[in-house]
Parts: sequence; structure tokens; C-alpha cells
Amino acid sequence: MANLHSQLLLLLILVASLFLAIIQPSLAHSRKLILQSPQKAADTHHFGSLNEVRLYLERFGYKEKRLDNNLIQDTLTTESSLYAAISLYQQKNHLNVTGKLDPETVVRMMTPRCGMPDIFPSGRKGGSAAAGHQHHHGTSRHGKLLHVVGHYKLFDNMSPWTRSEITYNFTSTVLLVSLEDLRAICGRAFQRWAAVTRFQFREAGEGEQADITIGFYTGDHGDGFPFDGPGHVWAHAFAPQDGRLHFDGSELWSTATPTMDETDLESVALHEIGHTLGLAHTTDQDAVMYAYIGRGVVKRELQQDDIDGIRALYPSK
Ligand SMILES: *[C@@H]1O[C@H](CO)[C@@H](O)[C@H](O)[C@H]1NC(C)=O
Ligand SMILES: *[C@@H]1O[C@H](CO)[C@@H](O)[C@H](O)[C@H]1NC(C)=O
Ligand SMILES: [Zn+2]
Ligand SMILES: [Zn+2]
Repeated sequence: MANLHSQLLLLLILVASLFLAIIQPSLAHSRKLILQSPQKAADTHHFGSLNEVRLYLERFGYKEKRLDNNLIQDTLTTESSLYAAISLYQQKNHLNVTGKLDPETVVRMMTPRCGMPDIFPSGRKGGSAAAGHQHHHGTSRHGKLLHVVGHYKLFDNMSPWTRSEITYNFTSTVLLVSLEDLRAICGRAFQRWAAVTRFQFREAGEGEQADITIGFYTGDHGDGFPFDGPGHVWAHAFAPQDGRLHFDGSELWSTATPTMDETDLESVALHEIGHTLGLAHTTDQDAVMYAYIGRGVVKRELQQDDIDGIRALYPSK
């Protein structure tokens, strides 16, 4: 079990180190590319080069990672070399499948999201996501919208929780939100999952070991997944029974009604708790377990896809 965890951690470390490369400023603006998001006000992070797009696609599982990343020059990455990965990204994200970086695709990539990958390499222990049934209908012909009915995914090769009482506590290196607010927000988010499962969630007492540890962290915070500042990623959490749930302390968080610049803490907490219970990213855009929650967006209610997923994993209620 410990071995599986370390393998998952290793995988996530690989993913994270690639992301570091994305934010290296030296890569930015090395080519004149029109990849600027039209939604400038809402997004502070832009792709400066095709190489960054490639790293993004690799990081979130749409493209196999190149092991010789340091050697790749930006000029070697062409849009056509990303055709398959962009097409897959568009298909999974309900965009027109063109294989090209059209504005809708770039805007989606700019949308703030969870740090967990959408697709894990198959056959790799500890991190691959077991795909649920995908129901394709409509046409997937070039340029046409591919209609994909979203479906939840479960982490593969994890150890689901076996006890029904799960405890949590708060561990932070940065205090952005008062403990009182954080407690209330996470309490409500846990309640939503408890309502559709056999779990009872309880805050651990002082000095008690908690199953799930929740906190805000910035930059490199010791788990191999440095946060990116106010950028693509707002949080990440590990598959069971690891229990670590981390929010990026550099984001602008809202504890009430988010403005267009703020990320809704309760929506993200609900999503990340889903990971700590064993759910991976769904392709259902309305579901809480969809990877993207844009700034100003509130998603505080579990959807049928989320409920189907958690009940498939813990069939008891
Ligand atoms: C797909 O393409 C059509 C026609 O070009 C366009 O009207 C529509 O907005 C596009 N949809 C998305 C999600 O990009
Ligand atoms: C929270 O739980 C973790 C994991 O059991 C433990 O290491 C930590 O000391 C606890 N924190 C507090 C503040 O009790
Ligand atoms: Zn996620
Ligand atoms: Zn972390």
C-alpha cells in the first residue's frame, strides 16, 4: 500500500516538474504567437509559446511526456505535432475537434483548474484513472462538435477508505482564511459528500491524527508539487488513503460570493474532497469533479455524475 502511494507520488512529481517548466519565464514570448486569451481580465496566465502548450498537454495527460524535455527547443514544437493531443483535449472538453489551437481551445486552457491530471498513463500503477463508460453520439467528423456524455472516473490502483468515520484537520503554512471560515466551508463540503455516502466526517481533536489534512500552501511546499502562484492551478489532493488536500495560497480565494477575480473556496473544497475519496476528473462539465472551475464560478452542489461516481466506489447508500 505504501508502495502504491509512493508510485502515485512519483507520477505526480513528474507531472509537477513539467509544470515548473511551463511557468519558466524564459520560455515565454520566445515566439510570436497569438495565444493570448480574450478574457484577459479573468486570466493572468498566458501561453507564450507552443512549447508551453505542449507542456500543458503533457502535464494534464493528453500527450505522452518527452523525457528529453530540457533538450527540446521551442522551434521543434509545431502545431501539427500537437494535432493528436489537441484533438484529444478538445474531445474530452466538449470543444469542436479541429486539432488546432482555436480561440475556444485556448480560452479553455487558460481557465483556472485543478492540478490533478485529467488522464493518467494506462498501465502505470498508482495513478491511472479507470475510465467509466463513455457514450459517444453525434458526429466526430473534422470540425464538428463531438457530443460526449460526461462520465465520472475513479482513480485506479488506489486503496479506498474502509472505515465509515473519516477525520480531518487543518494544517497551513499560510493563513489566508480564518480557521473559523475554513472550518465552516469545509464542514459544508464534507456534508455534501456525507449525504450521498456512508461516511461521517469529523474534525479531529487537538493532537489527534487526522485522515485528511487540509491547508493552504504556496510554491514549493514539500510534496513535490509546487504551486504556480496565481496561474492555472488552484489546488490538488491525493488519492486515498493519502489524505493531503492543498489549496494554492497565491490564488485570490472567496469565502462568500466570489467576484470575477476570485475562486470560490467551497466549490474547490468540494472538488478536492472528491479526490481524497477516490474520484478522478469527469468529462461532465456540469459535475463538481470536472477539472475546471473558473474564477467567479460557484459549484457547491454535487451533480448526478458525482453521486453516481462516489456510489460506484462506495456502494452502501
Ligand atoms: C464550434 O463551431 C461552430 C461553428 O463554427 C461555432 O458556432 C461554435 O461556437 C463552436 N463551438 C465551440 C464549443 O467551440
Ligand atoms: C493533523 O493530522 C495529521 C495527520 O495525522 C497530524 O500529523 C497533525 O499533527 C495534525 N495536526 C494538528 C494540528 O493536530
Ligand atoms: Zn481535480
Ligand atoms: Zn501539495
